[in-house]
Amino acid sequence: MGVIISPSVLSADFANLERDVRRVADAGAKWIHIDVMDGHFVPNITIGAPVVKSLRKACDLVLDVHLMISEPKKYVGDFIKAGSDIITFHYEAQKELTLDIIKEIKSSGVKAGLSIKPQTSADEIREFIPYLDLVLIMTVEPGFGGQKFMHECVQKIADIKEFARLYKRDDLYIQVDGGINDKTANICKNLGANSLVAGSYIFNSDDINQAVASLL
Ligand code: DX5
Ligand code: ZN
Repeated sequence: MGVIISPSVLSADFANLERDVRRVADAGAKWIHIDVMDGHFVPNITIGAPVVKSLRKACDLVLDVHLMISEPKKYVGDFIKAGSDIITFHYEAQKELTLDIIKEIKSSGVKAGLSIKPQTSADEIREFIPYLDLVLIMTVEPGFGGQKFMHECVQKIADIKEFARLYKRDDLYIQVDGGINDKTANICKNLGANSLVAGSYIFNSDDINQAVASLL
């Protein structure tokens, strides 16, 4: 499995979202990463299910939805209905409901992802790996684009890769999000990441084609 680049629309121009999504699709991206923030789980507010629904109509990319919200259980149905292909939520949000939420996502035919913040260990989510399609390791505190990559989180990539091997889950997507550029991308890929989210590095670049290509 080659590495999958998922450009984060958080750094796109929200008034020209369709144009910006086309640009990354033309640059060869197959996924688009949509950061949903509720101003509660993280100190920022972004977009909700109606925008996912509009993007569903506007492009053929895999809609990779990252929920940074306090109550994923309450809202996950809206994001399924909106046409998400992958829904990733945070383990820290409603720990006791984690398996319930994964099963709700998967029973709708949508891929399920679980994300961990920098302070959460890979061990804490190990038991869920047999049920998951994707694990998202945050390498910044969630909430904002353009932050500095936290090198102290990278060991978790290798940890998850090892768990995936033990559970015979070679098909698991191991995704990294936060501070990805051409240099940090290499570190993550060498440790076993097979999906990289990048916002500011791609959308703030003068040459989007070159930026996407430099992460592959
Ligand atoms: C941050 C979001 C990221 C963000 C990454 O909470 O989850 O997806 O867009 O932005 P960069 O790539 O600029 O660090
Ligand atoms: Zn994200």
